[in-house]
Amino acid sequence: MRHPIRHFLQFNDLTADEHAWIFQRAAWIKRKFKAYEPYRPLSDRTLAMIFEKASTRTRVSFEAGMYQLGGSVVHLTTGDSQLGRAEPIEDSARVISRMVDLVMIRTYGQDKIARFAEYSRVPVINGLTNEFHPCQILADIFTFIEHRGSIAGKTVAWVGDGNNMANTWLQAAELLGFTVHVSTPRGYEIDEQLAVGPDGASTSSYKIYSNPLDACRGADLVTTDVWTSMGYEAENEERRKAFADWRVDPEMMQAAAPDALFMHCLPAHRGEEVEAEVIDGPQSVVWDEAENRMHVQKALMEFLLLGRVAD
Ligand code: CP
Ligand code: NVA
Repeated sequence: MRHPIRHFLQFNDLTADEHAWIFQRAAWIKRKFKAYEPYRPLSDRTLAMIFEKASTRTRVSFEAGMYQLGGSVVHLTTGDSQLGRAEPIEDSARVISRMVDLVMIRTYGQDKIARFAEYSRVPVINGLTNEFHPCQILADIFTFIEHRGSIAGKTVAWVGDGNNMANTWLQAAELLGFTVHVSTPRGYEIDEQLAVGPDGASTSSYKIYSNPLDACRGADLVTTDVWTSMGYEAENEERRKAFADWRVDPEMMQAAAPDALFMHCLPAHRGEEVEAEVIDGPQSVVWDEAENRMHVQKALMEFLLLGRVAD
């Protein structure tokens, strides 16, 4: 019998228990990778990757990860497929999902990926939308766990845009029991409804701060992102002015807990959202964070295709 299809379109498409499983599998899969021990449970499986926006990490981590698991990949972009020539998303979903076992999509509106998933015969993974970036938060939390242990009860400071990363952090906090201190410039606030849902969040899962320094006080992790996300380039100049005080600097890291980590999903702009001293400094774990995209996504693909496999 076929398993019911599971998608990963938002962080809370998986339960807290399933996330714990994926973190544990990612650690096991990473250990095998580091020991050069082959692990190929997805031989003969194919992943289609659809990119409507640019990518370095997402493409390399999914593509290398799928090959390492024994599978293969098909890479499609808007420019080189019928997706860019207005073939309906529902038709693309029907066709592509008859030929591959798994689909990863990076696109604009979340509605587009939701429509694709509705018509797909196979699991669909969100590789970033305007609203969410769940694979990145999987990697970020896995990285936190590797360095500091469980994230439950900890505090994450979000400094910057109320964007796809911020929304996903809020969802994760609600699901996994930690707190996010959010500081965004006026006009760039998070969409609380989108991030935590119509029922609201538990009182401890996030707090809003007008001053980014206050958001960082006592935080176990300080994190930020570009001032202008993909798709918002027309607002670049306006944003440069609005975000000038939302730059993670040594003073903010000083205000955080003494053993606080710094993360950034990358690509980063030194001198804009973060000072070089911070991102290139001793508290920064951005390179582990980037590498861990591959390990957590391997665990995610294994889970979506094979369920909870035994070691
Ligand atoms: N962090 C991240 O998703 O990077 P890319 O845009 O390079 O995929
Ligand atoms: N918020 C950024 C993340 C890039 C990985 C964007 O959407 O462009």
